Amino acid sequence: MGMSGKSLLVGVSGGIAAYKSAELVRSLVKCGASVQVVMTRNATHFITPLTLQVLSEQPVCLDLFDLEAESQIGHIQAARAAELIVVAPATANIIAKMAAGIADDYLTTAILAATAPVLVCPAMNVKMFEHPATQRNLGTLKDLGYHVLDPDVGSMACKEEGAGRLADLSKIMEKIQTLLTTPSLAGLKVLISAGPTWEPFDPVRFITNPSSGKMGFALARVAARRAAEVHLVTGPVSLAPPSEVTLHRVVTAREMQHQIEELAAHMDVIIMSAAVGDYRPSQTAPQKVKKIEGRQEVVLEKNPDILLSLGRARKDSKCRVLVGFAAETENLLENAREKLEKKNLDFIVANNLTQRGSGFATDTNQVKILERSGKILELPFMTKEEVAERIWDHVELFLEAKTP
Ligand code: C5P
Repeated sequence: MGMSGKSLLVGVSGGIAAYKSAELVRSLVKCGASVQVVMTRNATHFITPLTLQVLSEQPVCLDLFDLEAESQIGHIQAARAAELIVVAPATANIIAKMAAGIADDYLTTAILAATAPVLVCPAMNVKMFEHPATQRNLGTLKDLGYHVLDPDVGSMACKEEGAGRLADLSKIMEKIQTLLTTPSLAGLKVLISAGPTWEPFDPVRFITNPSSGKMGFALARVAARRAAEVHLVTGPVSLAPPSEVTLHRVVTAREMQHQIEELAAHMDVIIMSAAVGDYRPSQTAPQKVKKIEGRQEVVLEKNPDILLSLGRARKDSKCRVLVGFAAETENLLENAREKLEKKNLDFIVANNLTQRGSGFATDTNQVKILERSGKILELPFMTKEEVAERIWDHVELFLEAKTP
């Protein structure tokens, strides 16, 4: 995730989950954000200001009436400098104070003085979380326009079970990234295919490829952050479902085709990044195939080319931008250009599978974007998430150009 140049204020209140704020601050700084930590007095019983000061690389704000600290950075200044305020963990107490507009310490005062969006990440005992007073207060915060990230359900430090665990770090980071991102795809429906397909020849064996789904999932995450309505159709992968994305799980190419055909007519943008099996065994044995003497042969049959059909049906569809991928081991540009034309795409993302750190299962990629006009955009080596950002930037250029 890229957050360089972004200023955040992280408020830490006094619950056992306060120790998790160390990892949050560390991750934000790693992403390039400038982080001002503000702690409540109670939070210092769970984690030291020094820990958060070292991790944030900035003095921690704690006492409202500390003359030295106030002269270095006043609480109003701290509140105004932030592009986003994140309260994690937010205890029942600070949630109640925020809902009532109380400003009796550094953190509550800074929140009241802020004009930036505020993200509240509650963490508390399940009974405290479910208490009508807390639920009413969270409702008030939502009415005030604050963003509330629901806590996770699970076992708690107090040995009880239920809702109240601080949301997982990855969910908090994703929500922060979304709140820092311009909603440039708002109002648009997008469809992305990802992962491999499994083409079975008996109930326990199948033909597949090493696609991990990472590129497609990154495309879905970035589109969701930009506020698109995202449908992600994926073959079997072991990745966590992205938040704010409708996930459709399929196994075979034909299942993928049916799912995509059901959705495609309503989509503004379609990006096919799945590594769809070109062939399937012409017969699937009902039981596990037994070992025999000599050769065993499997006859293959052609799978439907989903993207080709989408390209052919374009004039009758709502789809304004259609994008494909070309993963190749030879003649990259030549093969990609041919697919771009044949499948009637706006652009194609060409991917050299023989290059180290590119293609299947890696976290990085180096791709070229080829347009129908002949224009080629060569992207440097970058993470798949950065590639996804650049692909969506490119889609947005096409959308702009097509807007009357
Ligand atoms: O022709 P080729 O399989 O190399 O084309 C790759 C592009 O077509 C990718 O975008 C892939 O997702 C899509 N594709 C498809 N259905 C297939 C094969 C590929 O949608 N059966």
